[in-house]
Amino acid sequence: MRMYDVILKKRQGIELSDKEIQWLIRGYVEGNIPDYQMSAFLMAVMFKGMTTKELGTFTMAMAHSGDMVNLSAIKGIKVDKHSTGGVGDKTTLVIASLVAACGGVVAKMSGRGLGHTGGTIDKMESIPGLKTELSEEAFRNQVNNIGVAVIGQSSNIAPADKKIYALRDVTATVDSIPLIASSIMSKKLASGADAILLDVKVGSGAFMKSLDEAHTLAQTMVDIGRENKRIVKAVITDMDRPLGYAIGNALEIAEVIQTLRGHGPRDLTDECLVMAAYLLVMSEKGDYDTCYAKVQSALQNGDGLAKLRELIISQGGDGRVVDNISLLGQSQFTYDIKTSSAGYITHMDTEACGIASVMLGAGRTVKDGPIDMTAGIVMHKKTGDSIAEGDVIATLYADDESLFEGAAHAYIQALTIGLEKPVSRDTILAIVE
Ligand code: URA
Repeated sequence: MRMYDVILKKRQGIELSDKEIQWLIRGYVEGNIPDYQMSAFLMAVMFKGMTTKELGTFTMAMAHSGDMVNLSAIKGIKVDKHSTGGVGDKTTLVIASLVAACGGVVAKMSGRGLGHTGGTIDKMESIPGLKTELSEEAFRNQVNNIGVAVIGQSSNIAPADKKIYALRDVTATVDSIPLIASSIMSKKLASGADAILLDVKVGSGAFMKSLDEAHTLAQTMVDIGRENKRIVKAVITDMDRPLGYAIGNALEIAEVIQTLRGHGPRDLTDECLVMAAYLLVMSEKGDYDTCYAKVQSALQNGDGLAKLRELIISQGGDGRVVDNISLLGQSQFTYDIKTSSAGYITHMDTEACGIASVMLGAGRTVKDGPIDMTAGIVMHKKTGDSIAEGDVIATLYADDESLFEGAAHAYIQALTIGLEKPVSRDTILAIVE
């Protein structure tokens, strides 16, 4: 086979065979296909797209380029969820705790923060003592014992994606729906779950800015799952404003705990209940209404919170944080942002809110850089809320007071204030099955 012919075929819009695709991925990972030829191929995909069959094979070939986690020693239907990334998105721990409390089996691998978006693994590490690296055996045992484990992804999951993603980043080939979908799904397929619920975020804080794009991405990922005999559903959710009120690692864990105590923000609670109910349906625990009622009662009767405590303790963390949020620690300094105008918050540039939080130290500015676990933002007003002159609209947290001025400026710039109350937008925008 010649790479030249594969590129030409894709450029002409002719469907590639399974053999060609598998050869292409193997050749690239092994270093036989140079970056410039892979770049030309990726650019051809940008313009010609991929058929569902091609995408299924392409994704599986990327998944098989590294470890394929075998979860067969874990009893039951193993479910996983994946968010395409957002600001204040702390749903994983709430959902995983509720699903496990209702008898579901959650074997989950999560990532770290990326750019303006936070990552579950960083958030979990703000819990004193908690480990996010477990051996495969310890991971399996924990899921068998308590129904849930959440760990970081091993470095050898889908190395082909890692290499291709780095190339896309510098060849203007990131924003292609087939390439995004296959990148995300290759890692999910390699992680071994039987059923996957995708949370496709849309809005100013998300990768997908329009509902149409989000739909196409969701449908593409669901199709890839079906091609590879996995149960995949997608929920399209709003990311045109941050989710909940907290942005930043320990601050978000505190909000997770409040939510499992039944006192969480409405948007976050609604989204978690719906997603947890779908995961239970995928776990064959009943129809949607039955499953929704189950997760709702696990939230109300404290079973979800008890499951979070078990999860924390099993992973070596201090389970007392669930009863005493102050054990998460607090930043040395706080700074209240007051508004100088009155009216309504009509829009939030959510990506910019995430960046303001990164500026306080809550996210990384360089690869593998340090993060300040207690830094971040607690919002008091969000899109749709009325504000009066002098109201405190957000409180910033940091260990370095000099960071407040820049972050406060960035946060204020992210808000649009108007005189008319904006039309409210649902948190769950669509379900793609
Ligand atoms: N997340 C991924 O893992 N891959 C992409 O291409 C985009 C977002």
